[in-house]
Amino acid sequence: MFVTLPVRVLQLSDTHFLSGGAVAEGMGAYDTSAAFEAVFGHIGDHDHLDLVVVTGDVADHGTAPEYEVAAQAFSQFRVPVNLCPGNHDFEVPFQTGFDAPNLTTERIVELGNWAFVFADSNAGQMIADSNGTLIDPPGEDRLHANGSLGVDEPARIRTMCEQTEAAHVFIWVHHPPGDTVALVADNTYTTEWTQLLADLPKVRGIGAGHTHVPSKYEFMDRPLYVSPAFKNNFDLENETWLPPGYRTYEFGADGSVTSEVHLVDDDRWPRRRFGRAIASLFRGEITHEQLAEIAARKQK
Ligand SMILES: [Fe+2]
Repeated sequence: MFVTLPVRVLQLSDTHFLSGGAVAEGMGAYDTSAAFEAVFGHIGDHDHLDLVVVTGDVADHGTAPEYEVAAQAFSQFRVPVNLCPGNHDFEVPFQTGFDAPNLTTERIVELGNWAFVFADSNAGQMIADSNGTLIDPPGEDRLHANGSLGVDEPARIRTMCEQTEAAHVFIWVHHPPGDTVALVADNTYTTEWTQLLADLPKVRGIGAGHTHVPSKYEFMDRPLYVSPAFKNNFDLENETWLPPGYRTYEFGADGSVTSEVHLVDDDRWPRRRFGRAIASLFRGEITHEQLAEIAARKQK
């Protein structure tokens, strides 16, 4: 497809859409549909964009009605939107849930001299059915799983990176490897990526979500960007909540990548300080269950 360089991309992540009055998991969650409308309004005119990417946790509980809400929201964009799944997304409803002409779940999108590869960081948590197709394991546990590429996904990513004629590759994936947030850091998953990227020199960087802590750091000498979430966001340095938001990117003809975080301040999601319990959660000192128990005790 012909595009004018730089390629301009908008990233949304962790929209955690709800349906039918369902209650959000976790504490202090924002109204994600209201957050989407606020973000969409903040983006404003977007005809200059080449692509919108959504890096997973599209739904909060992975249900079909939640994807209907998501599809309705994303179909408001007048440009193509491509999505990859997160741990809160179940495979079948995710793959069948985006019935609108501009919504796709492609594994690779080529624009100008860039290839955008969409990785599935749930792949290693899936099981094979009798035909060898990967399906979700029974139960809800997968909704809270760490990233895992497993056996076939690294080979699939490698093939896409090696077979594209584009000069530069950027990878979009839900779970960020090498993350320093203790709550979600996973050495096994990070090792999967260090092994994979070691001999994929065309990969210029990674765009991810999952942590709900917007950030940028270096991974394997490449920039790794984490997008804000819609459900809740945190600034770990200043120990405050953050508004919902998004990232914009420019991909240059020379392989350069620049990205900016945009947060949409509003009275509905003030940047209030969070307490010691949430700080302990992010440091990996207590679990989500223990945090919920502390909150329940405080409410008594
Ligand atoms: Fe999330």
